[in-house]
Amino acid sequence: MTLDTLVPGYRALVVGGSGGLGQALCAQLLTDPRCARVQALGRQSEPRLDLLDEASVRDAAAALNDGQAWQVLLVASGILHGPGLQPEKRLADLQAATFERVLAINTIGPALVLRHFAPLMDKQRSLVGLLSAKVGSINDNRLGGWYAYRASKAALNMVVKTAAIELSRTHKGLVLAALHPGTVRTGLSEPFNGQVLGRDPATAAGELLAVLNGLKPEDSGGFRSYDGQPLPW
Ligand SMILES: NC(=O)c1ccc[n+]([C@@H]2O[C@H](COP(=O)([O-])OP(=O)(O)OC[C@H]3O[C@@H](n4cnc5c(N)ncnc54)[C@H](OP(=O)(O)O)[C@@H]3O)[C@@H](O)[C@H]2O)c1
Repeated sequence: MTLDTLVPGYRALVVGGSGGLGQALCAQLLTDPRCARVQALGRQSEPRLDLLDEASVRDAAAALNDGQAWQVLLVASGILHGPGLQPEKRLADLQAATFERVLAINTIGPALVLRHFAPLMDKQRSLVGLLSAKVGSINDNRLGGWYAYRASKAALNMVVKTAAIELSRTHKGLVLAALHPGTVRTGLSEPFNGQVLGRDPATAAGELLAVLNGLKPEDSGGFRSYDGQPLPW
């Protein structure tokens, strides 16, 4: 895998670099001879970036602003389940605090990452991919359930589309996309049969990077699957 549509010596930022997909994305980028630097960002990284703490997002962006542009920004963070948090099966399972937490991590945090990191991106050509999910597609929702996660990803898709319109004015070579990785064997999918149904994270990471590499500025703001196909909103 090589991002051959980017300038040689490109530099990449990966928010959620400790996750299943984030680690695989970092590993793929580190094997690309054109890539000069990969900076993973998360709650344990230096600089630290916690999506629930805007000051940490702002400060991480300031720390990485060395006057040279970055060419890749991937947001591979996200939450589906955790201690005291299970995706809802029915309306009766809805809890305001859980809903707010899922929106804060899956939607508001990535939007703040765009707010603070977009100014660091290369105006000539740069690739920005935010990990969304097909279950965030309103048109494609046939099964129901997973209220907060679905809503958080649908809202993330709107953030991507809206930011793409704004950034096309200032960053003409920037491509922004919401990406569906498919089911991948990570901690996030594990309780939902992900180990059986999911693909290998390395395979998924390579596919996602290949999709981004092939996108042009006129594709910016789209919602794409790991095979490059556009997904319905
Ligand atoms: N796996 C799948 O089948 C699948 C399918 C569709 C979409 N996706 C999407 O793909 C993305 C990556 O998922 P994954 O499967 O790699 O999940 P994962 O292995 O659970 O990784 C989640 C990542 O999010 C980070 N994170 C959570 N809360 C955070 C916070 N407050 N601040 C900063 N980072 C935070 C975690 O960091 P810590 O290590 O600090 O917790 C971790 O790096 C998510 O957006 C997910 O919705 C995954």
